[in-house]
Amino acid sequence: MSAFLAGADVWRPRVRLALGLLVLGLSVASAAEKPATAPADPRRSEAVYRRYCAVCHGPEGKGDGPNAPFLEDDQPRDLTDSRYIGGLSDEHLYRVIAEGGQAIRGSRFMPPWRWTLSPSQIREMVTFIRALSAGAPASPSLAAEPPAGATLAVELGCPVCHRIGDLELMPVGPNLSADGDRVQRAWLVQFLKTPHTIRSFGYHPLSRSRMPDFRLSDEEAVSLADYLITRQRGIPEPSPESPRAAALVQRGRELFRQYACRACHTRDGTGGRAGPDLDTVAQRLKPGWVMRFIRDPQAVDCVSPMPHLGVGEDGARAITHYLFDAAFPQPDSPPSAEAARKGFTLYRALGCGGCHWDESNEVTDRIGPDLSGAGDRLRSEWVSGFLTQSTAIRLWLTARMPGFRLTEAEVRALADFIANLKDPATPPLPERLRFSGSISEANVQAGRRLASREFLSCSSCHLGEEQPEGSPEEWAPDLRISAQRLKPDWIVRWLLDPQRLAPGTKMPSFFSDETSGPEEILEGDEERQILALRDYILSLGGARSGELR
Ligand code: HEC
Ligand code: HEC
Ligand code: HEC
Ligand code: HEC
Ligand code: HEC
Repeated sequence: MSAFLAGADVWRPRVRLALGLLVLGLSVASAAEKPATAPADPRRSEAVYRRYCAVCHGPEGKGDGPNAPFLEDDQPRDLTDSRYIGGLSDEHLYRVIAEGGQAIRGSRFMPPWRWTLSPSQIREMVTFIRALSAGAPASPSLAAEPPAGATLAVELGCPVCHRIGDLELMPVGPNLSADGDRVQRAWLVQFLKTPHTIRSFGYHPLSRSRMPDFRLSDEEAVSLADYLITRQRGIPEPSPESPRAAALVQRGRELFRQYACRACHTRDGTGGRAGPDLDTVAQRLKPGWVMRFIRDPQAVDCVSPMPHLGVGEDGARAITHYLFDAAFPQPDSPPSAEAARKGFTLYRALGCGGCHWDESNEVTDRIGPDLSGAGDRLRSEWVSGFLTQSTAIRLWLTARMPGFRLTEAEVRALADFIANLKDPATPPLPERLRFSGSISEANVQAGRRLASREFLSCSSCHLGEEQPEGSPEEWAPDLRISAQRLKPDWIVRWLLDPQRLAPGTKMPSFFSDETSGPEEILEGDEERQILALRDYILSLGGARSGELR
């Protein structure tokens, strides 16, 4: 299957690296315990750089990261400037990375990294920066972007639900395993109903990941929130220290400035975008969790890109008072076991765990259709429309295709990517069965008769000109949508042998041998009958002669 896309081998490893994902991220976290003599691995430094430095210094080190425009006069240094970097000693570089801009009387917006990175990691960063400044990037993968469509698909988490050739499945969202300690229930329900961007540059920095929209009903959003709220480890909630609260808020404001939190966070409308907007913390998060996170982000989430800034317990308490303006939320009442169970079932059925891995994660089945050969099957215009606004096709699934708030350019990149997903193992249809570009009225008539209750009775299962019996969750796809969605030649392949294309499908094989088609129509010629059904289906989508490619 690896040949499903020409050049797959060339870009696949890059997709992995570009994300600097969990595998590398975890080795980042555990590197602290490794002996200082572990050999420098440029790929590891690259992942460290990507996770912690690139938002400001840029993916190629030119000082043009997406957070840079929000830093006003304190612009990140161009690390590829060989003149400048060449003039600095290794000791100087080590010191500025470990202790931050303050150590060189420079900008506080350059954070200190000594509590986040081990001494050997900092030494590796010095080597990495030397390589950046020596011209060619230390590793080609930071500069050379792989084809947009495949990277975008991985970053957005499409392979989490769909098999797509050999694209790898990777978590793209935060760990939700302690949401009961972390978020407020009312916010959570609202977010699940209408998700928005929290981390401007992705949970994995510089990725385009985002939380998709599952078009949840109110009831579904409430069940999911109830389930997530039950997941907790029990962080104690601080209470506002009333007599001292005003003083603590004031102290917190000062510390917030001293630690230069604004380098990455917006507060009162100004500041960086590398981390979430902190104006909304009071509606969103729980104070106990915030305190803990500010003290040691990696203890909460080992791959968190927020630096450990060495804030002590009292400092974290003061900053938390400042962020909440000393008005801590009322604790949420615990949800009923029944509600949480419903939410858990839904969480699995919708495939939430595919993007949000956690300790309890068993690798879930891919819940969406296989897209490996989707370029042979789906019409590109339809795919674009569907990615912009998806609707249910397989009514029996609880799973659904979520909405990703894609830009037009992203839709184009993904639709092109999908159009090129061809299965080389599929033999071409013989010429006589291929679609010529127009449908014939005689075929449409014959197809309609064949499909009718008198003969093959397609409408006993499919929506189309008539309604099937039974409940909608059991209906097969609406053939009017299929007509706009599927490529004409794929419809023929499907009718020839549905079991081969989708083993175990409920769709019967009507044309398994040369005598299976009804004798009364088109002289009992199976091939002509299949073409008649194809034209009939296409006509249901509104096609007339000459309209189709
Ligand atoms: C929030 C933005 C930000 C992040 C994240 C950041 N830097 Fe910086 N960095 C800066 C700014 C601003 C300066 C300029 C400091 C100055 O010259 O006053 C700078 C300067 C530097 C310098 C040059 C120091 C000098 O003497 O001129 C180095 C080296 C550097 N950063 C390395 C790193 C490394 C390595 C990382 C990741 C571990 C990193 N930076 C992460 C903002 C950032
Ligand atoms: C949470 C799981 C999930 C994720 C993530 C997801 N999909 Fe889907 N997708 C589905 C499900 C389920 C369906 C089937 C919907 C139906 O039939 O009603 C689907 C259907 C589709 C279809 C139509 C296929 C067909 O044969 O009808 C396309 C195309 C598609 N997805 C592309 C994508 C792309 C591109 C991405 C990444 C941006 C993506 N999907 C991410 C679950 C997901
Ligand atoms: C170098 C950039 C950087 C600096 C400096 C920084 N943060 Fe962060 N912060 C982040 C990032 C990135 C996240 C998102 C982390 C994650 O998802 O794990 C974050 C997350 C947070 C959160 C959780 C917010 C939420 O909505 O989930 C809080 C609270 C927070 N930071 C507070 C602070 C405070 C207080 C300071 C100063 C003491 C600070 N940060 C300094 C980058 C930074
Ligand atoms: C295709 C991947 C994907 C799927 C599937 C997905 N999420 Fe997310 N989710 C994300 C990403 C990425 C973020 C981080 C968004 C941000 O920071 O802007 C996120 C954020 C969240 C958050 C907020 C996290 C925070 O920082 O406060 C919650 C809660 C959440 N998702 C719940 C769910 C639930 C429930 C489902 C299933 C219905 C689900 N997610 C399915 C990718 C996904
Ligand atoms: C016993 C129920 C049943 C009958 C009868 C039936 N189908 Fe299907 N058909 C299905 C199911 C179920 C699917 C979905 C297959 C899947 O995704 O596994 C399907 C899929 C299809 C598709 C692909 C639809 C899409 O959008 O992906 C076409 C085209 C189709 N059938 C045509 C027909 C025609 C034409 C007839 C009559 C000759 C017919 N079917 C009769 C159950 C049926």
